[in-house]
Amino acid sequence: MNLVNQKILIVGASSGIGKATAIQLSQQGAKLVLISRSEEKLQEVISQCSGEGHAYFAIDVKDEKALDEAISASAKGKEEPFTGFVYSAGQEGTIPLKFAKADFLSEILHVNTIPALLITKTLQKKGNFSRDGGSIVFISSVMGSLGQPAKAAYCMSKGGLVAASKALALELANKKIRVNCISPGMVTTEMSSKILDSVSEESANEIKRMHPLGIGDVKDIVNGIEFLLSEKSKWITGIDLLIDGGYSAQ
Ligand SMILES: NC(=O)c1ccc[n+]([C@@H]2O[C@H](COP(=O)([O-])OP(=O)(O)OC[C@H]3O[C@@H](n4cnc5c(N)ncnc54)[C@H](OP(=O)(O)O)[C@@H]3O)[C@@H](O)[C@H]2O)c1
Repeated sequence: MNLVNQKILIVGASSGIGKATAIQLSQQGAKLVLISRSEEKLQEVISQCSGEGHAYFAIDVKDEKALDEAISASAKGKEEPFTGFVYSAGQEGTIPLKFAKADFLSEILHVNTIPALLITKTLQKKGNFSRDGGSIVFISSVMGSLGQPAKAAYCMSKGGLVAASKALALELANKKIRVNCISPGMVTTEMSSKILDSVSEESANEIKRMHPLGIGDVKDIVNGIEFLLSEKSKWITGIDLLIDGGYSAQ
């Protein structure tokens, strides 16, 4: 899909789905602004991207002011407004509710959910987003609509993204900005490897069994992101695209 002249912000771009998204979108001609905490990893991602003119900022998504300044500067400073935004930053959390403290619940929301909305708000500031519209994609999870023991906080954060994306799809439709979610099943990344390493062999096999088409590849998710960013999905807004190897069909 041709993404020439598209300027895309990817938050959570230093590894996993975000990193693979950056590399693939750059190959389609997009100009990128990448954000996550690790400067070293972001430099490594940029070195693997095709094309010129990409930028990165090492910022914690809990730092609202730094995000706002970096995004506004990279849009207005170069007089190149964004046409797309992918929110892929996320933190896993598996704690039975009886052990979960308020700080933990709040931390998960402040990484997985709230920055996606605050960045969308920053992108609405004059000059930051193209007046021709564009596309926003939040990376949720099958856990946004399905439960699992000890995952209440994570499920809350991902369900929140799905619900918020539908409201924003309606709020921003008059600006021709589409807002959708992608809900992956398990794909191989640092995050999922940590999960599989932390559980018993029996549980790992059960997780694999729950995916009728097997554990996915990041490319399976990136192809969906590329589609939702492209003109090919120009009449799609407010959906939650499940890409999960059949996990949610059961
Ligand atoms: N992998 C899966 O199987 C799977 C399944 C369903 C949903 N998801 C969702 O997909 C998204 C990406 O997951 P992934 O597997 O690609 O995970 P990952 O490899 O662990 O990548 C997570 C990304 O988020 C960034 N990040 C985390 N906390 C941050 C913070 N406080 N501030 C800024 N950036 C932060 C990390 O960068 P730094 O460490 O450099 O900050 C990294 O770039 C997540 O939202 C996850 O919940 C993944």
